[in-house]
Amino acid sequence: MGTPVAASTEGLRKVYGRGQASVSALDGIDLEIGTGQFTAIMGPSGSGKSTLMHCLAGLDSVSEGRVRVGDVDITRLKEKQLTRLRRDRIGFVFQAFNLIPTLTARENVLLPLAIAGRKPEQGWFDHVIDTVGLRDRLEHHPSELSGGQQQRVACARALVSKPEIVFADEPTGNLDSTSGAEVLNFLRRSVDEFEQTIVMVTHDAVAASHTDRVLFLADGQIVDELWEPDRESVLERMLALSSLGAA
Ligand SMILES: Nc1ncnc2c1ncn2[C@@H]1O[C@H](COP(=O)(O)OP(=O)(O)OP(=O)(O)O)[C@@H](O)[C@H]1O
Ligand SMILES: [Mg+2]
Repeated sequence: MGTPVAASTEGLRKVYGRGQASVSALDGIDLEIGTGQFTAIMGPSGSGKSTLMHCLAGLDSVSEGRVRVGDVDITRLKEKQLTRLRRDRIGFVFQAFNLIPTLTARENVLLPLAIAGRKPEQGWFDHVIDTVGLRDRLEHHPSELSGGQQQRVACARALVSKPEIVFADEPTGNLDSTSGAEVLNFLRRSVDEFEQTIVMVTHDAVAASHTDRVLFLADGQIVDELWEPDRESVLERMLALSSLGAA
């Protein structure tokens, strides 16, 4: 295809716990994420989607195999180097938003830049804030925001530093369809206009239809993929996979 690789895995396995209580969350994942592509990860609850994102983003250790971000094998990095790589090159939107309760929305959005000792680009900051519709909530604390507004703060925080790759774990899961569509359109535009690379977990066929490629996970393995998805083709594939599971 010739698209540069933003992140990749080779023989990635992740086992939680030991002995009889151990759970194999990822069971041999080989994948390449193209630069400037919008990738969706779908699959049943417990299939390993969040675990895969955490391993790709260097937030969780792997049990076996390799994970590369750009051409760096992050499984070989020391904790300090890994922390720096995460800070400088990766944005993450967590399934639980992980906002700091004592900081305002503005401060939460700017926190990663503050930690990295970087100044925000005012134009980009304004663009991100207006797109996620947070202009009139910037001085509010998370407890004063709705779930959807908190999720939009988390999205803005991941994108404001223009990281090489953004991982978003159900960024629209708690949003009404209008705010969800706004966030998805924003993610789509940052891919189209700024070649942002995004990997997003979603349960929603409509959300997945905004992406370039859908990877389907089941029991810690990639079982299918779909390029240029639309709602119908995603639903069809989900149905086919769920009937396989039931068989
Ligand atoms: N810290 C942990 N310790 C033990 N087991 C874990 C841990 N985190 C996840 N698991 C297990 O690993 C498997 C994959 O979990 P994961 O959170 O990746 O699923 P998921 O696909 O993101 O599900 P959901 O759609 O519900 O968010 C599950 O069986 C889960 O119980
Ligand atoms: Mg999850």
